[in-house]
Amino acid sequence: MALIALLIALLLALVFHYIWTMFLWRPYVVTKAFGKQGVRGPPYELWFGSLREIQSIRRAAMEVVLDIDAHDITTRVLPHFGKWIAEYGETFLFWVGAQPLVCISQPEMVRQVLARKFGFYSRLAPSPEALALVGKGLVYIEGAEWVRHRRVVNPAFSMDKLKLLTTTMADCVKLMLEGWQEAAREGKEVEVSEQFQVVTADVISHTAFGSSFKEGKELFLAQKQMLNLVTQNFLNVNFPGSRYVPSKKNLQTLKLKKRIRGMFMNIIEDRLARRDAGCSSNDLLGLLLEAEKVQAGDQKLNMEEIIDECKTFFLAGHETTSHLLTWTMFLLSSNPDWQQKLREEVHEVCGLEVPNADMISNLKLMTLVLLESLRLYSPIVLLRRKAAKDMILGSIKIMKGTLLMMPISIIHRNKEIWGADANEFNPLRFKNGISKAAKNPNAFLTFSIGPRACIGQNFAMLEAKTAMAMILQRFSFSLSPNYKHVPIDSATVVVPQYGLPIVLKALH
Ligand code: HEM
Repeated sequence: MALIALLIALLLALVFHYIWTMFLWRPYVVTKAFGKQGVRGPPYELWFGSLREIQSIRRAAMEVVLDIDAHDITTRVLPHFGKWIAEYGETFLFWVGAQPLVCISQPEMVRQVLARKFGFYSRLAPSPEALALVGKGLVYIEGAEWVRHRRVVNPAFSMDKLKLLTTTMADCVKLMLEGWQEAAREGKEVEVSEQFQVVTADVISHTAFGSSFKEGKELFLAQKQMLNLVTQNFLNVNFPGSRYVPSKKNLQTLKLKKRIRGMFMNIIEDRLARRDAGCSSNDLLGLLLEAEKVQAGDQKLNMEEIIDECKTFFLAGHETTSHLLTWTMFLLSSNPDWQQKLREEVHEVCGLEVPNADMISNLKLMTLVLLESLRLYSPIVLLRRKAAKDMILGSIKIMKGTLLMMPISIIHRNKEIWGADANEFNPLRFKNGISKAAKNPNAFLTFSIGPRACIGQNFAMLEAKTAMAMILQRFSFSLSPNYKHVPIDSATVVVPQYGLPIVLKALH
């Protein structure tokens, strides 16, 4: 009896010590250390940190409806960052539970973080759900492992290889536009953001899996289900070990994970059998399997790693590109002069032909418009890193374990960097290239910068140009009177909360 009492007392002491250190002492010490360096922020609240304040600010922001030509979406997207920058300055400290986070929004500081090679600022360790979602693909690995993966995957994203995918992209878009022709004939509006989700899933399924496209698409839909499960965990403070409890959600995650793996294995086994029978393929999976054959010993990716890279392509490349198309459609609908300018360029370069890779590379104004769309409506709003050791950043000492938040959407609207028209749609600001569009050459962060910048940026731009060129060839379009300008940041990207209904007029 005495022993049990002693054990209970010991356990209680340990729990008390943990709570005292993690939730009281550490926040006190960290707040003080940053405070001494002039870095302030919202007060720390026991257990929640700043979460309750974030939730309350975000709730209020959800009430705001923007004018169609008001592009300052930060009143709705990242509203807490806007509020705290105004109160505490561009660099401030806040908390998710007992985890300290520092927001940095000066491009030079952001560059210092993103340009660093390994061992200083790492990506955040994935949650078990995120790992189940993408596995240890490029997004979640570090150091020598990342170098090996990136070396194998890079050639699949070279411009030569991507050009070969243009026809596949155009075929997928063509199928979507046949539906649009019918809607235009019947005078029905089309909710295009949903349509772009479908077409970009088709494109990535085709380009990743070629002939196994149907199985690939089914697989990606299962991955989407997994994404929904994963995102339920964002902005929650979880009890340590709660992931291992056999709850309904945890069991669902496990089951789905097994199903996804089985589906991948079927596709790959089928592909390997065909490869051994002498059939080659130019899709991303084919290129990875080819590399697997060519690379020497420990430079190869094994099957699990190839599966994880395929999962990563879908997750990283599908919604991002879909929302680039959605917001470009929005901007061209509300700026008919630019819509007409682009249509003229497309007619001049492509006529009425299906665009090929060479034509696409000659669509100069289109590039400017897509870049401006990415600046104003960057699909990804925030970059995150974790300090792997104590670091000096600018003049601030960042303690090991601190998370650094770099709010792309706010940096993209800083008037001191982008000029007084930072919140306006002005594609011509990019006419001399990305590095000359703003006062700071590293202020455009949509695809990130440095060694971990997006590997799929050329893929995304090629796909978006192909789709927009084909749309402009066939339709003129405007916003439906039912559209409400209420962008929100879902777990992964910025979306129009109630979709983007468009009125189409067929040109031919
Ligand atoms: C408009 C479309 C896209 C946007 C805005 C975008 C944005 C980004 C950003 C910001 C990062 C860096 C994240 C960080 O540093 O924390 C990233 C990384 C990545 N993206 Fe994209 N992306 C897009 C399209 C694509 C596509 C089409 C693919 C693949 C088919 C792709 C694959 C990846 C991969 C694999 C990484 C990780 C790279 C590494 O760590 O080495 N992305 N993307």
